[in-house]
Amino acid sequence: MATPPFGPPPHLLTPPARIGAVLFDAYGTLFDVHSVGQLAGQLFPGHGEALTQLWRDKQIEYTRLVTMSSGGAEHYRPFWQVTRDALRWSCVRLGLAADAAALERLMDEYRRLRPFAENLEVLRSLKERRTTAGILSNGDPEMLAAVIAHAGFAQLLHPVLSVQSVRRFKTDAAAYALGPAALGLPAREILFVSSNAWDAVGATWFGYTTLWINRSGAPPEELGTSPTHVGNSLHDVLPLLPSSA
Ligand code: LAC
Repeated sequence: MATPPFGPPPHLLTPPARIGAVLFDAYGTLFDVHSVGQLAGQLFPGHGEALTQLWRDKQIEYTRLVTMSSGGAEHYRPFWQVTRDALRWSCVRLGLAADAAALERLMDEYRRLRPFAENLEVLRSLKERRTTAGILSNGDPEMLAAVIAHAGFAQLLHPVLSVQSVRRFKTDAAAYALGPAALGLPAREILFVSSNAWDAVGATWFGYTTLWINRSGAPPEELGTSPTHVGNSLHDVLPLLPSSA
């Protein structure tokens, strides 16, 4: 009998994994990259939202460009630099006269991005139930440490894994492989949580059990793969964990 080209996703064919740890994406998931919009709007009235959106899109585009070219690591530069490069491009694209001081002020916002409202409570619950809860992010260690400390999350997130150690950005397999290696668990026993649909799909392809937190009501990616779970806030993590973790 011919095999149909598309079957049910693998997670519907296999029993759900017992989750042993949680890894969060950082930017967009724990910290709101669009919280830079307020300062962007003050500096460039009428352009705050456009700058914020273009900046984020270009930042992610650049991560893919450097990782996909010449075997990946050769063009790597820290996420801080990628973010600054993307900001400069976005200002030029929008015709904004951003001097060095304005660029610095906007970059500095990345050290104090606003965490989403429910995150502190959920991270505290994870700590109380002794569930390992960490980060796996494109961010470099310095910028991650700064934004985590600013949010008051330093005691709540461990380990904080940065792709800097492999010089490849997500969705490269070497980036996602940092999770199982650090936690000593197979990927499917780790709940990878991201608000970025592309990241949730990439992590699902890698083998994680995934939760896509669709904060913005975005349509799902049209790639024939769904994240294992879909929710709309970090609260949706807790029901996915075994009752005695
Ligand atoms: C991260 C970005 C991609 O934290 O959101 O990895």
